Amino acid sequence: MTHLEIREKFLKFFEERGHKIVPSSSFLPNDPSVLFTTAGMQQFKPYYTGEADPIKDFGSLNAVSIQKSMRTSDIDEVGDESHLTFFEMLGNFSFGNYWKKEAIQYGYDFIIKELGVPIDRIKISVFKGDEQVPADLESLEIWRSLGITDEKIIFGERGDNFWGPTGNRGPCGPTTEIYIDGLEVWNIVFNEYFCDSDYAKASSDEGRKHFLPLAKRGIDTGMGLERLTMILQKKSSVFETDLFVPIIEEIRGKNLYDLEKNTYAERIIADHLRAAIFLIADGVLPSNVTQGYVLRRLLRRAIRYVTLLKLPNDIYQRVAHVIAHDIYDMTYPELTEKQKEILEVIEKEKNKFEKTLVGARKGFKQRGKKPLSGKEAFDFYQSWGLPIEQIKELAIELEVPAEQDFEKNFENARKEHLAISAHGAEKKFGGHGLILDTGELKAGNEEELARVTRLHTATHLLHASLRKILGEEVHQAGSDITAERLRFDFTFPRKMTTEEIKKVEELVNETITQNLPVTMQEMPYEEAIKKGALAFFKLKYPPIVKVYTVGPNDAPFSRELCGGPHVTNTGVIGNFKIVKEESISAGTRRIRAIVE
Ligand code: ALA
Repeated sequence: MTHLEIREKFLKFFEERGHKIVPSSSFLPNDPSVLFTTAGMQQFKPYYTGEADPIKDFGSLNAVSIQKSMRTSDIDEVGDESHLTFFEMLGNFSFGNYWKKEAIQYGYDFIIKELGVPIDRIKISVFKGDEQVPADLESLEIWRSLGITDEKIIFGERGDNFWGPTGNRGPCGPTTEIYIDGLEVWNIVFNEYFCDSDYAKASSDEGRKHFLPLAKRGIDTGMGLERLTMILQKKSSVFETDLFVPIIEEIRGKNLYDLEKNTYAERIIADHLRAAIFLIADGVLPSNVTQGYVLRRLLRRAIRYVTLLKLPNDIYQRVAHVIAHDIYDMTYPELTEKQKEILEVIEKEKNKFEKTLVGARKGFKQRGKKPLSGKEAFDFYQSWGLPIEQIKELAIELEVPAEQDFEKNFENARKEHLAISAHGAEKKFGGHGLILDTGELKAGNEEELARVTRLHTATHLLHASLRKILGEEVHQAGSDITAERLRFDFTFPRKMTTEEIKKVEELVNETITQNLPVTMQEMPYEEAIKKGALAFFKLKYPPIVKVYTVGPNDAPFSRELCGGPHVTNTGVIGNFKIVKEESISAGTRRIRAIVE
């Protein structure tokens, strides 16, 4: 069975059982507290909490999807038989509709009846229960009724048989898992609580308060496509399935291809390049912060192994080609459409990295052989953009010992730095790195700062205009501004029409040509809300907030809680242009725009 057949079978199985097929959402979730989409349920979070209505958005209480996912937590495991950074997750979902009996029956029927896996290769786990959440005896009984005998059922603890929340807060609940030949394959989650991430730390009494019953009890499941393919194709690693063989062949050369012998280096190159290509296709660029940092690490590690294996220079092009054409042409045609762009990003990063290595080696030699501290390594990383793996490799090459707790101290220094730069508009003149990094806004020099500031005010105008043209159901869901463009995510259930896009653009430009003043006032949070200032509901605000107003105070065009910076008059912004409007998840849209 090819991976294409597996995909089709899964979607069809659930479609026939009343599930709406929903496309994968972007890699970059619309939840500022998580870096990447790590599970299929993420785009559906608002349907579990009751914030959004699945019937309205896609006409069903049940959904099925194959979600592009990324788990950086598994990066050190990559190279073994079954761990990957990028993977695809098959999932079926119910929002306040079916519950445990149906969900387990579907899992059983799909694996045993549809795919024909013999029942004696299956094991099951169910939640054991603890002080805060009772044992899942209901699932246990359902499995028994399907003929799974007790010696095949394991009881798992919170760490293994409980899901969520993703990000700071969200749906969570006990899980039951299906294992095939000892490998965890399918996780079925029973979302019945809403909790925040402090729950694990809380004492039992305190802890219970963190589990609120969910508005709609729901089902969320996840099954790794690569692992399932490995089992069904009877392979001993994911790298031997048809999702990877063409990549490994390209790395090794077809003549030498021998399934038994794919090596660690080949697996790292295959996994990391695949993940990087998908990230770039979703709009991530290498940088020293957030998603860009992960992309940089993946790319540089892949480049490092390409160098070690002395592979020819066109390897990136060939690997990108087989990934886009031979593996995913039916599933992700955008990889082919964006191939030129993807290769340019890789090439640019490769050149940068090669220069970096030369400079870093020189700097490293100069510092001598005293033991390397984590903090010093972080400074090194900051100045040279050299990921920790490469710093370690340089240290080994130049025989420099590392202090004890080197990695821990590196991580601490990194976290400290991120906390400082996320805190406000940190300015670091004359040094390396960004002079402005609020998380939302990023600028590397004074000129970029000016452009980012203009785009930031334009974002407020866009937000207000969307609400005036599309209605008050529009809420900000995220925003990201660089010197080149603004990106604005907002809640809205459907694609905007060409006329609507045009109207919004015209309204923003009208406001710009009116030369309206932009003013800032500080006031208590409650007063700001009373005055109609828009708040980005996902953030926590301090008691005294800054409010930016565009236009006259008694009849403002836009009023928002915001940390700034902004221009003082809309006239300086320039001509505003929407370049793209797209969906990033069910019920959430993304606009990219520029000012000229
Ligand atoms: N959300 C669950 C998981 O990712 C299904 O394992």
